[in-house]
Amino acid sequence: MKMKLITLMVLTLSLASCGGDKPKNEAPVGAPMQQTEVTSEISDPMLNKGIGPISSVTLGEIDQAMVAEGEAVFKAKCTACHKISKKFVGPALKGITQRRSAEWIMNMTMNPEEMIKKDPIAIQLLAEANGAPMANQNLTEEEARVLLEYFRTKN
Ligand code: HEC
Repeated sequence: MKMKLITLMVLTLSLASCGGDKPKNEAPVGAPMQQTEVTSEISDPMLNKGIGPISSVTLGEIDQAMVAEGEAVFKAKCTACHKISKKFVGPALKGITQRRSAEWIMNMTMNPEEMIKKDPIAIQLLAEANGAPMANQNLTEEEARVLLEYFRTKN
């Protein structure tokens, strides 16, 4: 009982001191809500390049030799956790190039540890995978690039 009273007093005091020296008329009422626009821009996943070594990827016509190499890398290093058309340990990768930017895919492939800590989409995917983290397969940039080419054929 005594504890409760003291807590109440402290609360009342701190509340009172809060209101005291508040500067008045700082934010104009009815200022335009510019934030709405910014938020919708960020929420378009195709504009998110992710975090990692890849800042820009130029895509040309699909290169079938790279696709074949990509398929081999995929079978060797990714199929323990991924299938193209079905969710497995990780998400199904069908249509991945339609829903993520090329840079994001390569950064996720090469730098998953940092991505699942800092990138909003990867954080969400980690939660959906019940906390099972994507493993870093120590890929070279070239391996990540041929994988991307392979994924471009899997829509
Ligand atoms: C140990 C299992 C594991 C391995 C091996 C693995 N991944 Fe993943 N991957 C995951 C999980 C789980 C996720 C979801 C994010 C998370 O939980 O970390 C994921 C997410 C992804 C995503 C994002 C999917 C989406 O819907 O946006 C891509 C792209 C991806 N992985 C590509 C690869 C590639 C390419 C390889 C092979 C080099 C690979 N992964 C190897 C488990 C794995």
